[in-house]
Amino acid sequence: MSYLEIDNASVSFGPVSNRTHVLSDINLSVKENEFIAVIGFSGAGKSTLMSLLSGLQTPTTGEVRMDGKVIKEPGPDLGMMFQNYSLLPWLTVNDNIRLAVKTVFPKLSKKEVTEKIGHYVDMVKLSHAGNKLPHELSGGMRQRASLARTLSLDPKVLLLDEPLSALDALTRSELQDQILNIWESDKRTVVMITNDVDEAVLMADRIVPLTMGPKATLAEPYLVGMDRPRERQTLNDHPEFKRLKSEITNYMMGISQDSRETRDDITPMPDVRPKDFSLPTAGIRLKNKVSQPTSAA
Ligand SMILES: Nc1ncnc2c1ncn2[C@@H]1O[C@H](COP(=O)(O)OP(=O)(O)OP(=O)(O)O)[C@@H](O)[C@H]1O
Ligand SMILES: [Mg+2]
Repeated sequence: MSYLEIDNASVSFGPVSNRTHVLSDINLSVKENEFIAVIGFSGAGKSTLMSLLSGLQTPTTGEVRMDGKVIKEPGPDLGMMFQNYSLLPWLTVNDNIRLAVKTVFPKLSKKEVTEKIGHYVDMVKLSHAGNKLPHELSGGMRQRASLARTLSLDPKVLLLDEPLSALDALTRSELQDQILNIWESDKRTVVMITNDVDEAVLMADRIVPLTMGPKATLAEPYLVGMDRPRERQTLNDHPEFKRLKSEITNYMMGISQDSRETRDDITPMPDVRPKDFSLPTAGIRLKNKVSQPTSAA
C-alpha cells in the first residue's frame, strides 16, 4: 500500500498572463520504508517536487498525501533537508540542531538533547566544528550540518534535496553509507534528489526520472532489483548496475536532446564570423604610452 502519494499534481507560478508551469501530471506512489531516488536536470523542478512532499508548497492542482491524509503543511513526520542548507546564520552548528530538536521534542531533558546533538554531529563528522557558525563552514560542512539536523528529528519520511552534492568523493561515500544505515536500521521512507546516477543505483529501490521543464513530469521508474547491502567495491562490475546505469543515462540524454529539439524559446543566432581585430605586429604607437621598466644595470 502506498504511504506517500502525489496524485495528479501540477505546480505553476505567477499571474495568469505570465504563468510558469513547472510541474505537470505528477503521480508518485511511495511505499512505506521504500527508498526512492529522483533524478533530473538542473532547473527541471526537483526542489519544487520536494516542497510539495514536505508540505511547504501546495500543488496548484491535485493532491499530496501521507498515510492517506492530505499534506497541508510541514510537520515533524516529514524531515526535509534543503538544498541550500538553510541553517540559521546566527546559531552555531550545535545550536541549529538544538533548536530543531527542542522544537520537535519539547519533553527531552537538556542532557538528552545534548546527547542527540552529539550523536548526529559525530555521525556527519562535524564534532570539531559544533561551535562554529555557518559562515565559518565550507559548503560541504554546511551540507553535513543540515543533514545532521534533519536526521536528529527522527522523521518518518526523509526528504533529501541533493544532500551530498557539495561533498568530496570520500565524504560523499561515507555519508551515503550513513544514510543507508539509518534507513535500513530504523526503517524509514526516503525520497532523495540526486544528479548522480551511480549514487541513485547504489542507494535506491526505485529511480524516478523527472523530465525537463517546463511542465516537467515523472517518467516511468526504474526498479533496482540488486540485493542489499550493495558492495561499493564490486558495484561497477555488477551486470545489473551496468545495465541500469547505461539505460538511465541514455534515457536522460535522450530527454535532454528531445527538449533541445522541441523548445520554441531558443532564438536562432545569425551565422556570423567574428571580425579579425588582431593588431598588426609592428609599427604601432601606443596612445597611452606605458613607461617601460628600465633594464637592471
Ligand atoms: N516561487 C517560485 N516562483 C516562480 N518560479 C519558481 C518558484 N520556485 C521555482 N520556480 C521555477 O521553477 C523551476 C524549477 O525550480 P526548482 O528549484 O524546483 O528546480 P530544480 O530542479 O530543483 O533546480 P536545481 O537543479 O538548480 O536545484 C525554475 O525555473 C524556477 O525558476
Ligand atoms: Mg533544486
